[in-house]
Amino acid sequence: MPDPTPETVSEISELRNRVTAQRQQGARIGFVPTMGALHAGHTSLIEAAGTDCDFVVVSIFVNPTQFGPGEDFEKYPRVLEQDLEKCASAGADLVWTPDTRIMYPDGFATYVTVKALSGILEGATRTNHFQGVTTVVTKLLLSCLPDIAYFGAKDFQQQAIIRRMCLDLNIPVEIKTCPIIRDSDGLALSSRNAYLSKEEREAGLSLSRALRLVEERIAAGETDLASIKAAMQQLLKSTPLLKLDYATIADPTTLEDISSVQSEMVALIAAWVGATRLIDNCRLTSAAAEKS
Ligand code: PAJ
Repeated sequence: MPDPTPETVSEISELRNRVTAQRQQGARIGFVPTMGALHAGHTSLIEAAGTDCDFVVVSIFVNPTQFGPGEDFEKYPRVLEQDLEKCASAGADLVWTPDTRIMYPDGFATYVTVKALSGILEGATRTNHFQGVTTVVTKLLLSCLPDIAYFGAKDFQQQAIIRRMCLDLNIPVEIKTCPIIRDSDGLALSSRNAYLSKEEREAGLSLSRALRLVEERIAAGETDLASIKAAMQQLLKSTPLLKLDYATIADPTTLEDISSVQSEMVALIAAWVGATRLIDNCRLTSAAAEKS
């Protein structure tokens, strides 16, 4: 028996009616915001929401304000029928598909900016990207008002910024960050991987290889971060077709670059392979830092 397609709504009032009705019956509401073109990374979030919550809402909205001029807003894959099937088999109860008119009504003039974290790393090259993300996520969260919202560690900076924003604005939603889902060759799943040729995909594997190298060296007790960063950058810079943007080790909350090991760290990489920008990261725990 195929899973029945979940109910789909567009208007915010319809969403609120469904969520309110569930809440009145005591349901715990889980929410997974997405831009569609769903893959196993997205469905892992829907499944996590299903484990914790009684009613799972998925939003699908390709948010124009988080794409810069010349980025891939126009060609971003839009495959609603397939997405609805994936939502169904992952256990979503309701799919919310607002459009631009609903999210950005005529005269729209209010933006949310998390100042400290939005101008570095991804924000250094993608000007206004995070303002677009935080503005739309605020609207998505306030429209749905879930108990828990689920984000992927794949977009590490995004989840850090959203956590900061919910704290700063007292948005009463718990943020959960779920692990990165990878293909069997190590490439982190991304809707943008569909743009890669076979050769470009091979080049893209250098991101996860570089992260493994860092993980191994930290696990072996190495504490010379400058040397570890240099090795990771060297691996990436020597990959044909790949143009490195950044490869760094940072504090997981402030995202500031760090020069000596601490107990909790994150290694973050961004690179272009051809016209496609790839990002990847991994959390690091240093036993050496814990001892000192
Ligand atoms: P999108 O790129 O569709 O991603 C939706 C969610 O899926 C994000 O939280 C993202 O981190 C997570 N995700 C993507 N690839 C993943 C992977 N390989 N493993 C685990 N999780 C993964 O991120 C956005 O949309 C938008 O910025 C959004 C938050 C919806 C605001 O427009």
